[in-house]
Parts: sequence; C-alpha cells; structure tokens
Amino acid sequence: MDKQTQDQISAMDRASVLHPFTQLKDFATGKAGDPTIIETAKGIRITDATGREYIDGFAGLYCMNVGYGRTEVAEAISRQAHKLAYYHSYAAHTTEELARLSDRLVRMAPGKMSKVFYGMSGSDANETQAKLVWYYNNLRGLPKKKKIITRDRGYHGCSVVSGSMTGMSFYHDHMDLPIAGIPRTGVPHYYWGAEAGETEEQFSARRAEELEALILREGPDTVGAFIAEPVLGTGGITPPPAGYWAAIQPVLKKYDILLIADEVITGFGRTGAMFGCDKYGIEPDLITVAKGLTSAYVPLSASIVGEKVYKVLEEGADRVGAFSHGYTYSGHPIGVAAANAVLDIVEREDIPGNAQRVGSYFQKSLQETFAGLPIVGEVRGVGLMAAIEFVADPATKKRFDPSLKIGARVSKAARDLNLIARAMPHGDILGFAPPLVITESEVDQIVGLAHKAVLSVMDELKV
Ligand SMILES: Cc1ncc(COP(=O)(O)O)c(C=O)c1O
Repeated sequence: MDKQTQDQISAMDRASVLHPFTQLKDFATGKAGDPTIIETAKGIRITDATGREYIDGFAGLYCMNVGYGRTEVAEAISRQAHKLAYYHSYAAHTTEELARLSDRLVRMAPGKMSKVFYGMSGSDANETQAKLVWYYNNLRGLPKKKKIITRDRGYHGCSVVSGSMTGMSFYHDHMDLPIAGIPRTGVPHYYWGAEAGETEEQFSARRAEELEALILREGPDTVGAFIAEPVLGTGGITPPPAGYWAAIQPVLKKYDILLIADEVITGFGRTGAMFGCDKYGIEPDLITVAKGLTSAYVPLSASIVGEKVYKVLEEGADRVGAFSHGYTYSGHPIGVAAANAVLDIVEREDIPGNAQRVGSYFQKSLQETFAGLPIVGEVRGVGLMAAIEFVADPATKKRFDPSLKIGARVSKAARDLNLIARAMPHGDILGFAPPLVITESEVDQIVGLAHKAVLSVMDELKV
C-alpha cells in the first residue's frame, strides 16, 4: 500500500474506529502512534501495509490454528456464499453443512454430548451457557440453583454475563460488572499460590477444599454451575497443577453442580489433544468452543450441550413450549461451511498431533533458554501455549514494580524484532500461542527472537 493511502486509512481509522483494549486518548491524539494496518498473511506470518513481515507468535488471539491463507477454507466459504449465503436455523430450518458440523461436533467432543447451539463469539456462547444453566434448573423445579462459580483470573469473555464470569477486575472496572450471583474461587497457579513445602497434589486438594467451602457458604441449593478453562488462558497461560481436575470434579458432583468447560482456546488441538478435557480427564456437562472451530476464518462459536442437560430441556418442552433463545446468525451457513473445511484440515493433518510434537519441542526450548535468567520467575505451558513470567527477584518471587511495565516492554522489544508475543494482562507475562501448523525451525526463530527481546530489556534494567 502506498504511503498516501496508508495515511488516509490511518486518519479514517483514528477518526472512526472504537478499538478494543486501546488507550483511547493516546490513540486519538497520536501519542500511541499510527494504527498498524495489517494487509496480508500466510502460514504463521502477517504483513502490514508498509510491507513489514512479523511472525505471529500468538495466532491472532490464539485462534488462527490452521495457519493463514488456507485456500481450501477460502474456497469452502466462497462456494457456500455463492450457493446459499444465508438462511436462519429457527423453527427447525437447517442446511447440509449445519447438520454435518453438529453431528461431527457431538461425536468429537469429550463427555456425553447431545446437541450444539451456535453463536458468533466465545462471549455469546458463554452467555448461552449461563442461560442454559438457569433454564435447566428452572425446568427441574430448582429455581434457586442459579449461581455460577468462576475462578480468579479465569477469562470467559466481555459481554455482561461472560464478562462477569471473567475473574479479573480490570475487565469490570467502570463497567458495572460483575453482576450478582457469580462467586469466585481461587486460581490454580502453583507458582504463586502454593504454601511452603506443599506439593502440587496437596495444593490442588486445597483448592478443591476451598471450592467446597465456598459452595457450603453460598448454599449448595443456590449453586448451578462451575465454569473453567481446562488451561487458564488470558489470566496468564497456566496449566493446572497435578491432580487439580481430579480433585475438583467430585466436589461438583457431590453438590449437583454442572461443569462448563470453556474450551475456546484449548478446543481443536492447542494443548496437544483434541480438547483440553481429553488432556486432563475432564467430564464436562457443557462445552464452549469458538476460535479454533473455524480457525477464525469467519466468526463462529458453539455451546455444546451434554445429554444430562439436554434431556431435561426436552422433557420440559411440553410444559414451557419452544426453546426461546437464538440469534439471527445461529448456525450461519458460511460459518458452518468454514468450520467443516477447517475441521477437515484438523483431522487430515492431525493438528493436535503436531501441537503435541512441536509443542514438546517448544516447551523444552523455552525452558532451556529462559529458566534461570535473572528476571524470569517461571516458564510454563502445555502443547502450543506457553508463558514466561518475569519477576524482580526469582529467589524471593518479588514482583517488579508494575509501573516498570516489564511484560509490555518485552513484548514491544519482540515486536521491534518482528515477533508478535503478547504481554498478558495480568502481571509481567509474555505469552505465546502460535498457529498449530508451526514447525520446529519456526519455533527456533520464535525462541531466538524472544530471547533477544528479553536480553534487551535486561540490558535496560542493567541486570
Ligand atoms: C477461554 C475464553 N473464553 C471466552 C473467550 C471470549 O471469546 P470472544 O472474544 O470470541 O468473545 C475467550 C477469548 O479470548 C477465551 O479465551
């Protein structure tokens, strides 16, 4: 794109786009520089309007799993748009692609799943899950059993209920969230949460006891569900400690509490298994998927409903009439056609297998390169999601003064080297979640560039 066009686009953008997660004044006044105009992408690389190429070490927002520029997905979208761009799925209307995708998801998904409801984002899919929990317990004659327990540092989206289920205050501040009825329990982060001498299993057992105590305090007859990501994502890319899921699930069963597995990041291969639930032995009642479902080629999300919940919905239908929930775009033909094309690739190319193999190499390489550096407290991850957490003193786990913005500085240094790695919002954390088609030699490039970035910030800090 020529310079004049770039300037025009920047000016139009600055004047008219309300950007998510952007300091509005710095952007409006130009203090934060011009917007980055992304123009093209292929594989794991994106190119901006100046022709500068970056390695996308975060797959957009952990979503471009099969890699950019897959012709067969673009063609499936185009075919569907030509054949039937839109029809709704209300009142039992369907399309071939919608029926095929739903059949496939029910068979692929962990646990005993029964039906699939579609939305356009992870946030709206979690909103649907909350309504399903409320509807389910109303139909069971348990109108008090409505609270949804979430976890500190969990991330479940930004809309009203899903934003309230997100367990980080800066997603709530000045927005009148969280709404009532969403109690929070502790985050399963061993590095920060364990007591001296406590093993991972003991720490997990303690988190499960805390969950039980919370349920008893709230009243078990008021708690309808527990929502969690199999691996904590935006809250800091933190795999669960050993024994966590084995300890948590019996507590939920004991008090008749549904388990909503938020697989928006972990679904379709990111952990090295098809679903995070498969990896950690989780038996969910409801599953949320988005991102990897279409590898973000078009917006599509799904709330997958387990047999136990669905049975109650069907049995209640004679009493309550139609299931009164839906969006204009639920099961949009282009979305489901894209999902089928993407899942063909996921299965044919064994994308989870690649995430497992290359992910092991990635995790090992990150450990070897970063663990032991004087500003690194923890290197962690699973499959192709990983994080480096920075601390001022690894021996005492003393955090950096937040005003130093170490995470953001390392991320900026990486970007200056044409690597995108995300400064995670909670703490001084550099996050990685590259496309799942990445190779070992591309991992070497990411780790090499990230290393240079960390060394440059260490230089600035004189350590
Ligand atoms: C685990 C999880 N749930 C839900 C969401 C919300 O998805 P969306 O941004 O599509 O609304 C995200 C987004 O990052 C997520 O990571």
